[in-house]
Amino acid sequence: MKPVIYVTRKVPDEVLQPYQDLFEWRMWEKEDVPVPRDVLLREVASADGVLCLLTETVDREFLAAGKNLKIVANMAVGYDNIDVEAAHEHGVVVTNTPDVLTETTADLTFALMMATARRLIEAADYIREGKWEYWTPYLLAGSDIHGKTIGIVGMGRIGEAVARRAKGFGMSILYHNRSRKENVERELGADYRDFPELLQEADFIISLTPLTKQTSKMFNQEAFNMMKSSAIFVNASRGGTVDEQALYDALTNNDIRAAGLDVFVNEPISPEHPLVELENVVCLPHIGSASAATRTEMLELCLDNLKAVVNGYDAITPVK
Ligand code: GLV
Ligand code: GLV
Repeated sequence: MKPVIYVTRKVPDEVLQPYQDLFEWRMWEKEDVPVPRDVLLREVASADGVLCLLTETVDREFLAAGKNLKIVANMAVGYDNIDVEAAHEHGVVVTNTPDVLTETTADLTFALMMATARRLIEAADYIREGKWEYWTPYLLAGSDIHGKTIGIVGMGRIGEAVARRAKGFGMSILYHNRSRKENVERELGADYRDFPELLQEADFIISLTPLTKQTSKMFNQEAFNMMKSSAIFVNASRGGTVDEQALYDALTNNDIRAAGLDVFVNEPISPEHPLVELENVVCLPHIGSASAATRTEMLELCLDNLKAVVNGYDAITPVK
């Protein structure tokens, strides 16, 4: 009997095609709706491997249900939806999708920063709403990007890729990270700062840190108070790194100028979310890695990890 792989969302046939004969496939056949929890737990019970998204919570209940489970392949670089320690206790390998999405996510992070600074969404809406009658000296005037200081919090692969773009824009680069990154300091001229110093000095503060117990709500009221009143905050990692109420207060009290957000504490958010209603906030529906090519590469990496582990080989990109 072939190993059973459960895929928690509809993925394109062309992507699965090369793997079609290797496994017995089970799939949640909807593309835009996550699998209900009870269906998921039932399917996990007979699966050797699961390909899941960040919408699925892999906890002790899930792992206990997965009696034959050998691997959970998460289609994301972040894996805060997975209790990795519990998975390892159950002998289940966890894999993520680093590297393949680095440049694409850095592109989006930079785009979001620029869209926020130069008020691009507001400006496009201005025309759509029929408001453009005259050219005026300060019409939709925003903040410069070139020559400013970027403060990257979380200097992983994506942070480095954002720093490279910032260098091209003539920005000064500050970063904060658990460990010093001497290669980045040498190659890109980035300077390490402790967290409060970075918040005080940077014009753009970019959250690229994974969500962990240590980083949960690290951008809180105290953090926003330390930022310049002209600062622009961008979050492209996980909503949970931010205290959203504190961010809302900082934006409405003019403690900071604007925010660009690709991620939220509870996703999806509705148009009534308080942050969406603010003019100086650009909200995106968690599309950091969403180029068609990169999404395909992420799926293929998940499938290659599943193939390796189910056949008794080491995972390609295991989460340690
Ligand atoms: C998406 O947010 C990811 O972690 O890949
Ligand atoms: C993701 O790949 C990161 O390390 O930032």
